Amino acid sequence: MPKRYTVTAALPYTNGPIHIGHLAGVYIPADIYSRYLRRQGKDVAFICGSDEHGVAIALKAKKEGKTPQQIIDQYDQVIRESFESFGIAFDHYSRTSRKIHHETAQEFFKILYDKGVFEEKISEQLFDPEVEQFLADRFVTGICPVCQYSSAYGDQCESCGSSLSATELIQPKSTLSGAEPILKKTKHWYLPLNQFEGFIKEWILEEHQNDWKPNVYGQVKSWVTNGLQPRAVTRDLDWGISVPVAGAEGKVLYVWFDAPIGYISSTKEWAKKKGLDWKPYWCDQDTQLVHFIGKDNIVFHCIIFPVMLKASEQYILPENVPANEFLNLEGQKISTSKNWAVWLHHYLKDFPDQQDVLRYVLTANGPETKDNDFTWEEFQARNNNELVAIFGNFINRVMVLSHKYYDGFVPKSGELLKEDLDVLERMAELPKKIGYSIENYRFREASQTLIGLARLGNKYLADAEPWKLIKKNPERVKTIMNTALQISSGLSILSEPILPFTAEKLKRMMNLDPETLSWDTIGAKKVLLEPQHLLGKTSLLFQQIDDSQMDAQREKLKKSALDNNFEKKDFSPLKPKTSHTNFDALDLRVAEIISAKKVKKTKKLMELTVRLGEEERTVVSGIAKDFEAEELIGKKVTLLANLKPRTLKGIDSQGMILLGENSNGNFVFVGPEDKTTVSGTSIK
Ligand code: MF3
Ligand code: ZN
Repeated sequence: MPKRYTVTAALPYTNGPIHIGHLAGVYIPADIYSRYLRRQGKDVAFICGSDEHGVAIALKAKKEGKTPQQIIDQYDQVIRESFESFGIAFDHYSRTSRKIHHETAQEFFKILYDKGVFEEKISEQLFDPEVEQFLADRFVTGICPVCQYSSAYGDQCESCGSSLSATELIQPKSTLSGAEPILKKTKHWYLPLNQFEGFIKEWILEEHQNDWKPNVYGQVKSWVTNGLQPRAVTRDLDWGISVPVAGAEGKVLYVWFDAPIGYISSTKEWAKKKGLDWKPYWCDQDTQLVHFIGKDNIVFHCIIFPVMLKASEQYILPENVPANEFLNLEGQKISTSKNWAVWLHHYLKDFPDQQDVLRYVLTANGPETKDNDFTWEEFQARNNNELVAIFGNFINRVMVLSHKYYDGFVPKSGELLKEDLDVLERMAELPKKIGYSIENYRFREASQTLIGLARLGNKYLADAEPWKLIKKNPERVKTIMNTALQISSGLSILSEPILPFTAEKLKRMMNLDPETLSWDTIGAKKVLLEPQHLLGKTSLLFQQIDDSQMDAQREKLKKSALDNNFEKKDFSPLKPKTSHTNFDALDLRVAEIISAKKVKKTKKLMELTVRLGEEERTVVSGIAKDFEAEELIGKKVTLLANLKPRTLKGIDSQGMILLGENSNGNFVFVGPEDKTTVSGTSIK
C-alpha cells in the first residue's frame, strides 16, 4: 500500500486555450483519480502548472507580434479559469516561468552534468539563413522519416509519436520564414538514452508488462526495439531557461527537459505553502507517482524523463503512465490551427452550469484504448437519455414524493422485503467496484457503473410504484421511499469524482454534510440517512438539451473553421489606386501549358512551354514545389504576356504566370477555370 500519491497531469502549453481533447485525454481522468483517492482519505498531491517555454510559445508570440511573456500571461490566465470552472481540483497549479522552477530545472541539469551523464557534442544543425536562427522542434517541419506524415516537427512526429531530431526530417522547411534550412555547426549537451536501454527494458518491458496500458507499453516496446539514440537537451534559442554551465552562453534547456521538472517545482511550491516537506512526494519509495498524459507525450514520460530521474539517483520512478489516445471531433482530428475544436471557455458560455454534462460525456466516451470521436449528437443523447432520463429523473421522483408525502422528512423504514434488500445489497458492492475501475484507470467503466446505480434506483421505483400504493398501504411506501432515499444519498457520494458539481448539488438537496459521509459508509451497508432527517429543497439536476442547440453548435464549428482559413493568411496591404490606363497596358492572355520540366539544380523553378493561339513560348515559373511536371500538361493558365523577357538560370522567360495561394500556402493557378476558354484570347 503506498503511503502517499503524487498525481501529475501534463503541463499545458500556454500558447492557446484548452479544448475538450485536453480535458478528455488528461485532466478529467487525472481529476477523477485524485478526487477518488482523497475520498479514500489518502495523502494526495495533484500537481500541474503551465508549460511556458519552448518553441510553441516563441512561435505564437512571433505570429501575434507580442512578447512571449505577454503570450504566457494571457493564456496562463485563460487556462487556469477553464480548469477551475470545470472543477479540475489540482492541489497546486504553478508556472514554469517562476523562479522556483528555473532554479529547480537548472539544479537538475547541474546534477546530471556533474555526474558526467551528458555527452557534449558539436554537430551540424538546421539553420534558417533568412532569420538567422537555428531551427529545432516546432521551428521546423518536414516529412516524418518513420511514417511519412507531411507535417512532422523537428523533435517529434505527432502522427506516429516517434521522437525525432530535426536533421532527420525529409524536406525540412522553416516555420519562421518558409526557407529551406542550411546546416551550421553548434554545440549541445545530449542525454545518452542509448546507455539506458537496459534500464528501460527491465523497468518497463519486464516489470510493467501486465499493469501498463497496452497502448503505452506497445509504444515503448517499439522504440526500444528500434534502439534509443542520444537526445540533445539544450537549444539555441532566446526563450527558455539558460543552461547553467560555462560555454553554454545564449543556450537554453530544451523545453521537454525543463517541463517535466515542472512537476517537481510545482510540488515544492505547494509543500512550502502547506508547511510540508516536498521530498517524500518525489523521493520516497512508498510514494506512488502517476503521470496522466495524452499519447503524444508518451516518449517523454516513459523514456526521457524517467532516464533523467534515474540518472539523478535521487528520485522515484512513475508507477504508471496511463496515457490516453486522442479524441476527434465530429469525425475530424481536433486542430488548433484549423480552429476545429470545442474550446472550454466557449462551451461555458453556451452551456452555463453544465460542466458535469461535458465531464460525463467525455468520461463515458473517453479515448482510453483507442482514438474516439466526440459528436454533438452523442453529447445530446447521453445528456437526455442518461443524465436527464435516468439520474435526474430518479432523484426528482424521490425528492418530489418525499416532500409530498412526508413534508421532506425521511420516513422510517419498516421491514425490508427481498426487492429492497436486493437494491441495497447491489449498491453496497458499488464503492469497491467503482474504486477498482478508477484504480485501474478505467474511467469509462466507472461512469457506467455509476449510471447503473441510478438506473437501478429508477427501476426500483418504477416497479414498486409508491404513487399507486400510497392510499392502500402507506406503511409499505415509507419503506420504499426510505430505500430510494438511501440510494439517492449513495449516488451523491459515489458520483463525486466524476460529477463533482452534481454531487454537491445533490448533497445540498438532501441536506447532507459533504464531509461526514465517506465512500466506505455505503459498502458497510449502514443507513446513510436517519429517519426524520429533513431534506433540502428540490431542484432539477440536469436539463434537457434540444436539437436546435446541437444544430447551433455544429454550425458554429463549421463557421469558425471557415473563418479561420481567412484569418490565418496575412494579406499584404492593398497597393495605392491606379488608373485604367495602367491596367490596359498589361496584356493578360489565356495560355495552355504544353510541356513542363524542372529546371536543374533548383528546387522551385519549372520551365514551361505555353501556347497562345498559334504562338509557343517559354516561361519559367516558381511552381516546382507545388506541382509535378506531368500534372501541368494541358492546363490553361493566366499569362502576363507583354512583360519584357527575363533570364532565369540561363533560360529566357517570356511572361509571367499568375498564381494564388490555397489555405496550405501552396501555389494554385488563378484564371481560366472554364475549359472552353481558348488559348491566346485576352483576359479583360
Ligand atoms: N506542454 C506539453 C504538451 O502540451 C506537455 C508537457 S508535460 C510535462 O504536450 F511533463 F512536460 F510537463
Ligand atoms: Zn511519423
